[in-house]
Amino acid sequence: MAEQKLVTFKIDDREVRVPAGTLVIEAAKQIATEVPSFCYYPGLSLQAACRMCLVEVEKMPKLQTACTLVASEGMVVKTQTDQIKQARKGMLEFLLTNHPLDCPVCDKGGECELQDMVFRYGADSSRFVEEKIHRPEEKWSELVYYDAPRCILCFRCVRVCDEGMDVKALGVGMRGANSVIIPNREDHLECEECGMCIDICPVGALTSGTYRYKTRPWEMQYVSTICTHCSNGCKTTLSVRNHEILRANNRDLSGINGDFLCVKGRFGFDFTKHPERIKQPLVRKGDKLLPVSWEEAARTAAAKLKAVQNAHANSIGFIGSNRTSNEENYLFQRLARVTFGTNNIDHHRTADYTGLLTALGENAKDCLLTMEQLYNSKAVLLIGNDPTNQNPFVAWQIRAGVRHHGLKLFIINSRDIKLKRKASQFVKVAAGQEAAAVRWLATGEGQIVGPAVDHLTALKSALAAESDVAIVFGAELTGSVVSSVIALGSSLPGKTRYMTLGDYSNPRGAAARGVLPDRLPGYAQLGDAKSRESFEQLWGSKISEKPGMTVPEMVEAAQNGGLKALYVMGANPLAHYGTLGYGRGKAEVVIVHEMFMTETAKQADVVFPAASAYEKEGTVTNTSGEIQPLHKAAEVMGARSDFDLLRILSHQLEKQGLGKAFHFRHAAGVFEEIQRAVPGYDVELTGLLTGAAEPAQIAVKKNGHAAYDVPVGLIRPAQDSLFTSGTLGRYCQAIESVPEAQAKT
Ligand code: SF4
Ligand code: SF4
Ligand code: SF4
Ligand code: FES
Repeated sequence: MAEQKLVTFKIDDREVRVPAGTLVIEAAKQIATEVPSFCYYPGLSLQAACRMCLVEVEKMPKLQTACTLVASEGMVVKTQTDQIKQARKGMLEFLLTNHPLDCPVCDKGGECELQDMVFRYGADSSRFVEEKIHRPEEKWSELVYYDAPRCILCFRCVRVCDEGMDVKALGVGMRGANSVIIPNREDHLECEECGMCIDICPVGALTSGTYRYKTRPWEMQYVSTICTHCSNGCKTTLSVRNHEILRANNRDLSGINGDFLCVKGRFGFDFTKHPERIKQPLVRKGDKLLPVSWEEAARTAAAKLKAVQNAHANSIGFIGSNRTSNEENYLFQRLARVTFGTNNIDHHRTADYTGLLTALGENAKDCLLTMEQLYNSKAVLLIGNDPTNQNPFVAWQIRAGVRHHGLKLFIINSRDIKLKRKASQFVKVAAGQEAAAVRWLATGEGQIVGPAVDHLTALKSALAAESDVAIVFGAELTGSVVSSVIALGSSLPGKTRYMTLGDYSNPRGAAARGVLPDRLPGYAQLGDAKSRESFEQLWGSKISEKPGMTVPEMVEAAQNGGLKALYVMGANPLAHYGTLGYGRGKAEVVIVHEMFMTETAKQADVVFPAASAYEKEGTVTNTSGEIQPLHKAAEVMGARSDFDLLRILSHQLEKQGLGKAFHFRHAAGVFEEIQRAVPGYDVELTGLLTGAAEPAQIAVKKNGHAAYDVPVGLIRPAQDSLFTSGTLGRYCQAIESVPEAQAKT
C-alpha cells in the first residue's frame, strides 16, 4: 500500500502532523483544540453555511472557514484571536435574530449546541430590536415535529436524510430570514421515520414525538446497550427516568454504528411498558391461565417436566429464542442436554451461520466480515436480502462506503431493492433464483435463463477485476449453496470476506451457543467425540450424539404425540407452525417464558413473565459475529430475565430430584464458562466491559469437505420490514402509529 503523505502545520503555535487532505477543523481535534461549528458534521458533505468555524490563517487576507480549509504544509492557523472572537459573537447574534430563546421549555435545553455556543462565545446583548418572525410548530409525523423559529439552517437534517439515508425527504423553502426546512409531502413527511434528522439537529428545531416535553436531560440516567430489533447490533443509549425508557439515541457516537439508528432502534422501546406485558407467573387451571406465586409456578413447571421425563424418554422439545442473550441461550441448551438428556433443541433459524462457518472451516478466523470492514470494503457483492428493510445498519454502512470512498456495490436479487440505486451493477434474477445464480457463477453449472445470463457474465468479469470483495448474503442462500458462495469468493483475487444476514437481535448468538439439534456450543459437531467429551467433562454428564428435532419437527411431534412436552423460551413457534389445537394436541405440557400473551403463550400450562433485552445484563452477538454487552436500563415489576427463570427452574428441578441447579450468580459467570469451553471466545474482556464490539474468532472443524446441509425451507427469514419486528413489533406502539408502518407490513 502506498505510504500516506503527511503535512505539518501549526494551530495556535502547536505543531500538528496530519495526512494530506485533512480539514483544519479535524486537525484541530487532534490537539484537543475546539473550533466551534454548527453545519460541519463528519461524514456529511461540506456546507460552510454557519460561519462559526472561522479561523485566521497567516498570509490569507480574510478569516477562513476551518470546515472547508484543507491543511497544507507550513500553514499557520490561529483559532483564538480577537478578530475571531468578534466574528463568532457576530455570527451568534445573527443566529439569535429570530430565535425564540424559549430554552426553559425547549426539549433541547441542557444539551443544545446553540445554548453551549452562546454561553461560551456569544455576546451578552443583542442589537436587534425588530419583532421576531414567528411560525407555529409543525407536526410532520407522529414521530417528527418541526419548530421553525428555533432552526439555525445548518442543513444537517437535509444532508443526513439525503446522503446518509438516501431518502431525500427534507428540503429548504423560502429565502433569507424566511428560510425554513420543509418536508417532502407539503405539510407532512413520508419517509423511513428514522429520526436521524431529529438526532443530528444541533438545536430544538426538530423534536421527537415520543420524547418531547416529557423530561429534562439532567433528570435522566443514560444506559448504553444493544438494540433488540434486528441482527445488526446497533448500540443505543437509552435515556431512563424512574426505570422507564423515555428516549433512545446514540449521541456519544460510540459503538459500531456511530450515530446511526433506524426507526426501530430509535422509537421501538415502548413495548417495555405496554399494558399487555405479563407481570405475574401464570398456571393453567382448567381452561384458564391464572396468576400464581413464583413458588407455585416454578414448582408446577418442574413437576410437570419431571413427570414427562420420567414417563417417556427423550420426549421434551426445547425451542429457544433469537432475542435472548448469549448466556441465556447457553444455559437453555445446557438444561436440555444435561438435565433432560436431549438434543431436541433448536430456534427459528433465519440465516445459515452454521453453514457459513462450516464451509469456511479454519479460514473462518480471517474471512468473516465485521460491520467496520463492510464499510471499508472496496467492493461488496450483495446476494438476496433487502438490507434497507431487513438490515438497516448494513444498508447504512454500504451507502456510507459508496459515498465516502467509492465502494463498488454489485447486487444479485430477484426484487428491485432500494440499494439498487447505489449499485454499480444490478443483476435481476427470477424469483427464488439467487442460489442458482451463485452456483452458476461459482461452477458454471445449472441453468439460468433470460437476460440474467448476460448480466451475470458481465458481473463475473467485473468481480474478477476487484480485489478484497465482501460477499454479503441473505437467507436465500443456505446449505450446500453456501459452499458455492465460498467457491465463488475463493476464485476472486485478494481476500474475500463473508457475512450472512439473519433476523432478530441474537440469531447468531443462538446458533453459536448451541441452540441447535446437531451442534454443541461453538458449532461443535455432536458426532465429534472429542468435542462431546470436553463438554461432558465440563457439565459432568453424558451427551447424546443423536441429533434432535428441528423447530418444525418439534411442533409437529407435539401435535401428533411424538413429543409430550414443549419448553419455549422467548419464541412464538405456534404462530408459524400451526397451533397445538384444542387441548394442545397431544402435548401434555407446554412451558413458556414470554413478555406477552402470544399465540404460543396462550396454549401454555405455565407462563413465566420474561424481561426484555432492555431489562437485563448479558451479551449478544450480531450477524457479523461481534459480541457486545447488554446493560439493564429499565425495570418492569414482575418480569425476570430468562437467566433468572432458568436458574429458578433448575433449582426447583434439583429439589424434585432431577439434574443439578445452576449456581451462576450473574450472566458474566456464564460468559466466563463459555469462554473456557468454546474455542474462539477468548475475546478481550476489557473491550467488552467498556462497550466495544469484540468479534469472536470461531473456526469450525470441517467434516472432510462436506457442506453443512439443511432441509429446504428450514432457514427462513422473518420477513420483517423497516417497521416490523416479529411478534415484538405488535407491541411497539410508536412505530405502529406511523402510516408507513401500515403500508409496509
Ligand atoms: S425521519 Fe429519517 S427519513 Fe424521515 S425526514 Fe428525518 S432523516 Fe429523513
Ligand atoms: S432543523 Fe435543525 S438540523 Fe435542520 S437545518 Fe434547522 S437547525 Fe439544522
Ligand atoms: S439497524 Fe437493526 S440494530 Fe440497528 S437500530 Fe435498526 S433495528 Fe436496531
Ligand atoms: S462549521 Fe464551518 S461554516 Fe459551519
